[in-house]
Amino acid sequence: MSKVYDWFEERLEIQAIADDIASKYVPPHVNIFYCFGGIVFTCFLVQVATGFAMTFYYRPSVSDAFASVEYLMTEVNFGWLIRSIHRWSASMMVLMLILHVFRVYLTGGFKKPRELTWVTGVTLSVVTVSFGVTGYSLPWDQVGYWACKIVTGVPEAIPVIGSPLVELLRGSTSVGQTTLTRFYSLHTFVLPLAAAVLMLIHFLMIRKQGISGPL
Ligand code: HEM
Repeated sequence: MSKVYDWFEERLEIQAIADDIASKYVPPHVNIFYCFGGIVFTCFLVQVATGFAMTFYYRPSVSDAFASVEYLMTEVNFGWLIRSIHRWSASMMVLMLILHVFRVYLTGGFKKPRELTWVTGVTLSVVTVSFGVTGYSLPWDQVGYWACKIVTGVPEAIPVIGSPLVELLRGSTSVGQTTLTRFYSLHTFVLPLAAAVLMLIHFLMIRKQGISGPL
């Protein structure tokens, strides 16, 4: 094992990375409430893994989506477990996110110089809610279809740009295949990419500035 380690160390100086990670110490005021952000991240990783597994079976078409989910739940080995973990972890992610925001707010973790960490956090919560909205409609069952119709109709109330915005979301004047395709693309490509980039920025800023001080 040490020979393998030495081989990599000689070429890539990996010890320097380990030293950098280990050189940060945890201040004494940091307690269990400071774990919520890390739990949100863990939920996100679970979502990526289980979501990726489901793409092997899910078919994003209005005629096949429901049947493909039904097949996943009844025929695929442990398909029911993977989908259930995806559902539960999604709810857990939102709950932990709310608790994380409470912790940051109540300990004043958003104050100077951490304003930008807060801003990336707000954007991350918009992305997280969008994951929920787009994912809820993917099975294209009754609740999913009607939720999609209601949610995409909301911007209609905005003067002037309302109708074009609704059409942009739906890909048409009414809800149908174009809407499901857009939701699938958002849910499995655009939003995960945006979340990963935003989390990286969030974490880099936290590492650069360190955790905020005691109350
Ligand atoms: C996907 C969403 C998010 C993830 C994975 C995440 C992750 C983290 C992690 C791991 C930390 C380190 C300390 C801790 O865990 O408490 C942290 C700190 C922080 N987060 Fe988040 N966060 C997310 C969303 C948010 C949101 C929605 C906000 C605010 C609106 C926010 C604002 C902050 C701030 C200001 C800090 C620094 C706090 C301090 O230094 O005391 N984060 N985040």
